Amino acid sequence: MKFELFTCPKCKENLFIKGGSLICSNNHCYDLAKEGYVNLMLANDKHSLNPGDNDDMVVSRDMFLNRDHYLKLVNVVSNVISKYKKTTILDAGCGTGYYTSIIRKEVENSYVYGIDISKKAVKVAAKKDKDISFAVASVFGTPFKDKTFDAVVSIFSPLAFEEFNRVLKDDGIVVCVYPGEKHLIELKKIIYGEETILNDKSVSSDLFESIEKLKVQGYMNLEREDTSNLVRMTPYFYTTPKEKLDNLNSVSTLSVQYDFIVEIFKKN
Ligand SMILES: C[S@@+](CC[C@H](N)C(=O)[O-])C[C@H]1O[C@@H](n2cnc3c(N)ncnc32)[C@H](O)[C@@H]1O
Ligand SMILES: [Zn+2]
Repeated sequence: MKFELFTCPKCKENLFIKGGSLICSNNHCYDLAKEGYVNLMLANDKHSLNPGDNDDMVVSRDMFLNRDHYLKLVNVVSNVISKYKKTTILDAGCGTGYYTSIIRKEVENSYVYGIDISKKAVKVAAKKDKDISFAVASVFGTPFKDKTFDAVVSIFSPLAFEEFNRVLKDDGIVVCVYPGEKHLIELKKIIYGEETILNDKSVSSDLFESIEKLKVQGYMNLEREDTSNLVRMTPYFYTTPKEKLDNLNSVSTLSVQYDFIVEIFKKN
């Protein structure tokens, strides 16, 4: 049943649906929003009024992802989850729910939860897929009991390995997606005027052992609007001087590489 795995962020008891709310045995009550998500962030857990991606980033991310340029990536993630026969899945830092929804549809018998700290992102996600239980919550303190999930998916989101370890069953896995060295290299070259090759970022935790590492690479043809959304959905837009971003003004269509690493971890 939808929402049944959520626990009360105040007392950690189970939450039950009552009318238009989720309520625990100690009468702590959380209203379900009309879009069909629940806000389980306590006011004193927030470090800013609107934490996570800002509204403009969320809108740009939604427009960009909906064009399916990254479809191959989510197909690989779904195949991995299916291969390891995992069905109870948490998308930790789910953003606008693009990947969350495709994973739910592609993984047979899956039962999917999504959390993100950005209320705007969760709102967009909840509208997209009514069969997923979405909440506003932090990946560093998730509203779930210990050993709840078969798989935690983290796509370009903060990695909270300690918390993932807590909510994963003993044979659970983390499926982690992060950029490889060639990711968006042509775009960066136009903006920064030189080829910026990153070293493959590596990810590790004492609590987990890496069991598989896959590369997902290819080219996408971006229209001007795609490029603009792509830049706006990342922190680059906010950290790059305007005159550098202006280098994109003369570009109409662009062939850009995507380069993702999908790494799978099991508990130690
Ligand atoms: C780069 S986006 C990726 C979103 C989504 N996985 C995707 O690929 O479209 C990073 C996401 O992490 C969220 N985020 C940042 N800090 C977080 C936290 N402590 N807990 C949960 N989500 C967080 C942001 O709001 C944002 O939606
Ligand atoms: Zn409670």
